[in-house]
Amino acid sequence: MKTKKCLFLFGALLAAMGVTSFAQTNPDGTPDTGDMHAGHAPLNLESPAAVEKRMQWWSDARFGMFIHWGLYAQDGCFWKGRDGQSEHMMLKLKIPIAEYAQLADVFNPVQFNADDWVAIAKNAGMKYLILTAKHHDGFAMFASPSDGYNIVKRTPFARDPVSELAAACRRQGIKFGVYYSYGRDWHDPDVPTDVKADGFRRSNTWDFPDEGKKDFAKYFERKVKPQVRELLTQYGPIDVLWFDTPEKNTAAQSRELLELIRKLQPDCVVNSRLGYHLGDYTVEEQTIPADGNPLPWESCMTLNRHWGFKKDDHDWKPASELIRNLVDIASKGGNFLLNIGPTGEGSIPAPSVERLREVGQWMKLNGPAIYGTTASPFSKLEWGRCTKKVADGRTLLYLHVFDWPKDGRLFVPGLTNKVESAALLVGAPPKPLKTVQSAGGTTILLPEAAPDKISSTVLMTVQGALSVEK
Ligand code: GLC
Repeated sequence: MKTKKCLFLFGALLAAMGVTSFAQTNPDGTPDTGDMHAGHAPLNLESPAAVEKRMQWWSDARFGMFIHWGLYAQDGCFWKGRDGQSEHMMLKLKIPIAEYAQLADVFNPVQFNADDWVAIAKNAGMKYLILTAKHHDGFAMFASPSDGYNIVKRTPFARDPVSELAAACRRQGIKFGVYYSYGRDWHDPDVPTDVKADGFRRSNTWDFPDEGKKDFAKYFERKVKPQVRELLTQYGPIDVLWFDTPEKNTAAQSRELLELIRKLQPDCVVNSRLGYHLGDYTVEEQTIPADGNPLPWESCMTLNRHWGFKKDDHDWKPASELIRNLVDIASKGGNFLLNIGPTGEGSIPAPSVERLREVGQWMKLNGPAIYGTTASPFSKLEWGRCTKKVADGRTLLYLHVFDWPKDGRLFVPGLTNKVESAALLVGAPPKPLKTVQSAGGTTILLPEAAPDKISSTVLMTVQGALSVEK
């Protein structure tokens, strides 16, 4: 917590000094516009207290839904029978704009029902939802007055998913956010990218081959700024702005966007892919860092191997893996943003729905051990994970037991506090458990069988400030 405060303070100090360029460089001299990690402070425009206030709901939420949905879903990331590999299909197959846009002519996801989607997220225990408002293909999944290449204007569907999902989230009491691809847009003539180590440019080099002519600033003024403004003014509160691909933007542009966001929606939480270490929290993709991160962080992950709907990907993660990932992330102080890829008809693939239902059943019982908790005070627990809460001078330790001890003795190493109570979280009335304190820690005596095959929770309450000998 101390580190976090210091880092926020550092950001606020820079802002107070009127620092306008936050550019940092990688060892090879290229601008470091990537994610923040320990030691890379999120930079903000306000006081640490204001940032903490904005982040409160987000830190308590711990679990959200990511939705990758766009034209690529029409035929499950296939194009005229060819495998487009992912939502990057347009780039992978170098599909000319004029042809890719034909997908819009037929995109008609009549099964889309915002209330059903939000209910699926909510019943899974998710507290927020982030929709791809514009992905790298440049197609806006919202009514964008500044750019006609959008779902309302260009498709037979002619409805606005951002508007419908924002309203459904509000009705059902969960937070709503949007993803915006900032540094990649294969529809715009002015978006360059670097040649990456694999020798491949991630910009549209087939319709617009002359990279030298591309001027990011033009695209920024013509498309990014107006669309970010539209997203923040057309739909009521936008609780999260989830940027992606900070690449050729300057520090001044990222800062300008942040100022725009703060002016229009001061409570909107912003991720670090705004670039240049600006924003409120950092993002991990498909990984859980071994030691978490002292900064606010979120891990986004797919349910199978793809973000967008990929019709031949049947490699779904089991609910047990999803639940343990959620517990693992919470025990490291992070949020879990779990992705779904709806189809071109507007339905959520059944295997996703089933798994989310299973996660929801677990969350219904074990939610108190996840929501509003903070990172584990223990460095390693052989049998599982721990999350904690502090309330009324007591510390609540939620022990998430993945591997139920065969001898019925759950050892909590290093804990020297006097134990007030210990009980299984699930079950009424709570069944008190005996504890034995010894020099090396505390042992809890468990019933023979694990109440939950995936992860059982023991709630232990200890008195006073927590004391853990490492
Ligand atoms: C990866 C994918 C991109 C997706 C993003 C989500 O970078 O390439 O399509 O939107 O992950 O974090």
